[in-house]
Amino acid sequence: MSSKKTTVPFAGTKEQEEELKKIIAENKNQKGALMPIMQKAQDIYGYLPIEVQTMIADEMGIPLEKVYGVSTFYSQFALNPKGKYQISVCLGTACYVKGSGDVYAKIEEILGIKGGECTPDGKFSLDACRCVGACGLAPVMMINDEVYGRLKPDDVKDILAKFN
Ligand code: FES
Repeated sequence: MSSKKTTVPFAGTKEQEEELKKIIAENKNQKGALMPIMQKAQDIYGYLPIEVQTMIADEMGIPLEKVYGVSTFYSQFALNPKGKYQISVCLGTACYVKGSGDVYAKIEEILGIKGGECTPDGKFSLDACRCVGACGLAPVMMINDEVYGRLKPDDVKDILAKFN
């Protein structure tokens, strides 16, 4: 669980909480309501931090472990927020054989976060992705919609420094 620990303080609003509680109240007695409710919660908050999972468990009258189990089992649920700049390193075969794993590790080292996490200031989040169709530029990473190719681990610091 440590690699999934959120590093960004939860900052949900009263309005978001009310919207979620309303959705839960309307749906909780329907069979199979948990997944759709969690999906809605993620739509409202952008991710599913433990605070939101606790709200869902309390309002539905089910154990938090159950909500947590679902949130970690299904990859569509994010336990951490995305950063203002979303870094996505391609670990597809072509990129991997050209060293994208080292680029990924270098980003983790520079930002002090693991894959799936976000820096405490909300600026960068890091994820791995599969082939993005730019194998000719391998190894590749994306920052939001921009592609960076033919990367070496030593390039990363200068690239990240350009984002303010
Ligand atoms: S494997 Fe990375 S872009 Fe294709």
